[in-house]
Amino acid sequence: MAGISQQTIDLIRNSADIVDVVGEFVNLQAAGKNMKGLCPFHSEKTPSFFVSKERQIFNCFGCGEKGNSVTFIQKYKHMTYVEALHYLAEKYHIDLEYDSRHVETHNTSDNLYKANDQALKYFQLNLLNIKSGKEALDYLVNRGLDIKTIEEFELGYALNSGKTLFNQLTKDFQPLDLLNAGLINQGDTDYYDLFRGRIMFPIRDESNKVIAFSGRVFGNAENTAKYVNTAQTEIFSKSHVLYNLNNALPHVRKNNRVVLMEGYMDVIKASIAQVKETVCSMGTQLTTDQALKLKKYTDNVVICYDGDRAGKEATYKAIKILEDVKMNVQIAIMPDGMDPDDFITNNPNFKEFIDNNLTDQYEFVYRMITGKKDLTKAREIEVCKNQLFDFFVKTSGTIRDIYLNKFAADALIDINTLKADFHQTQINNRITKTLKSSLVRTKIVPKNLPKFRKAEIVIINYYFYNPEFRASVDAKGSSIFFENKDNWTIMFTAQETNKTFTTGSFLVSVKSSLSENLRDLLDHILFREGYEYTFSEFESCIKTLEEANLNDKINSITEDIEEAKQNGDSEDVIKELYLQRLEIQRNINAMKRRETK
Ligand code: CTP
Ligand code: MN
Repeated sequence: MAGISQQTIDLIRNSADIVDVVGEFVNLQAAGKNMKGLCPFHSEKTPSFFVSKERQIFNCFGCGEKGNSVTFIQKYKHMTYVEALHYLAEKYHIDLEYDSRHVETHNTSDNLYKANDQALKYFQLNLLNIKSGKEALDYLVNRGLDIKTIEEFELGYALNSGKTLFNQLTKDFQPLDLLNAGLINQGDTDYYDLFRGRIMFPIRDESNKVIAFSGRVFGNAENTAKYVNTAQTEIFSKSHVLYNLNNALPHVRKNNRVVLMEGYMDVIKASIAQVKETVCSMGTQLTTDQALKLKKYTDNVVICYDGDRAGKEATYKAIKILEDVKMNVQIAIMPDGMDPDDFITNNPNFKEFIDNNLTDQYEFVYRMITGKKDLTKAREIEVCKNQLFDFFVKTSGTIRDIYLNKFAADALIDINTLKADFHQTQINNRITKTLKSSLVRTKIVPKNLPKFRKAEIVIINYYFYNPEFRASVDAKGSSIFFENKDNWTIMFTAQETNKTFTTGSFLVSVKSSLSENLRDLLDHILFREGYEYTFSEFESCIKTLEEANLNDKINSITEDIEEAKQNGDSEDVIKELYLQRLEIQRNINAMKRRETK
């Protein structure tokens, strides 16, 4: 497909006036030099969505959405960049001209999936090849995997040489795609494969696309990480993914539970032992994101982590995360020092074990907290007590009673004293919380603000100081654009208030249109000291804001660039964005040069 020509894009951008484009969907009212209305991207009752005709941008101070007319249409109509250009071209009767120089453009993440898929086949063939894969295959078979399992989990082998995968895949892919997929690295002079001499575990997402790999060393490889994983890429982020969820899903649904483990080998061995509703979080602490992902399919989780100290601690943390998202948690505790893989090797009745030997989360936490403690020592009792309060404050009163009673009995203390302690701790916590929030309140104008936030505050102060400064601020029009929503609201309200009042009644009148919080904020701004009330201080604040606005624009163009790249837009579109960004940077540089002169 050829790309839309640069002239056409320019024409569309110049014709599609932001006020006109947005005005079709949002009821806009004049607000100083700008327009404002109710934001279409989040629900609100008072307008915080502003459109600047002069700067051809929109900006919502409520939800942070901002951009130009093309990105507005993209967001509002859920279109790609190119679709939005088509839409606007039609609306403004602009004939689309295409630029024939463009080669076919793909969606980049599409290429990453395809490259991974091809890499997977390549790794699989290496493993099954009698010559190259023998050692790796022997290793896996020794660990109890048969060929059927190896193929079911699509295990593979990455050859122990510099760049065989690279050579194979560059027949169909650009090196950049392989770099972006995390399959290769770039050295000083050349590319090389990331995975070398490793057994390969492919990682698929819920929709069964290959998004990453993990490679395990075997044999006598020393001084190297046991597993090498694909780094974070456009399509893979370790903390969001659960290994084997794609295969486990039908079993999760059927059994209405998911079994959570720590490692790949554990999951694979569990599957051999007919516990197939199993996933693992790849050695990292379970995240809320992963917990929510599981909750889409079931409310019941069995945690089956390693039976060592680290495994127990990880279990405790996972329990808290799963409780927070309201899952029912049970724990299958492995014997000391064994992981599920070891357990299954020694005991083929893993399924029976996991069905009949579950501990509930309360019992597990209680044992975990009190287990290794000497409950004849006051100090240790106190430590345990506080940890127990911490966990059981979130459970029902009944559960809490059961475990407080148990602790009273185990530590030989009076239950009524323990309960009184619990209530006192809750009261203390509440007091600390209130104190903290009142500290936040009095620090309503915090110290160490970024420079542009200080500038906003100074300008507001000047605005209320005398009519002369008010007039200069108003004259600046839309170059006054506050980043902070509260400051902005105050400024807008002030600008909309009748200026013929004396300063005193002007202030009263502005305040009457502000919420209580904003009235407090305004008081703090007005009664702070140390303002010079000089035009040079005023001008320097304006400059700071202008610079911040330009930086803002740069960020928003940077976002546009990322989006254009993801949408697979033509190089010319992207180049145009780069040029815009360079131009703004030039303005900033020029401004800085003026300042230092
Ligand atoms: N892991 C990792 N990088 C490492 C070590 C571990 O990503 N250097 C992740 C892997 O997902 C691994 C999990 O943490 O599966 C658990 O680690 P570990 O218990 O050490 O490995 P096992 O899966 O038990 O592997 P094996 O039994 O082959 O030693
Ligand atoms: Mn293991």
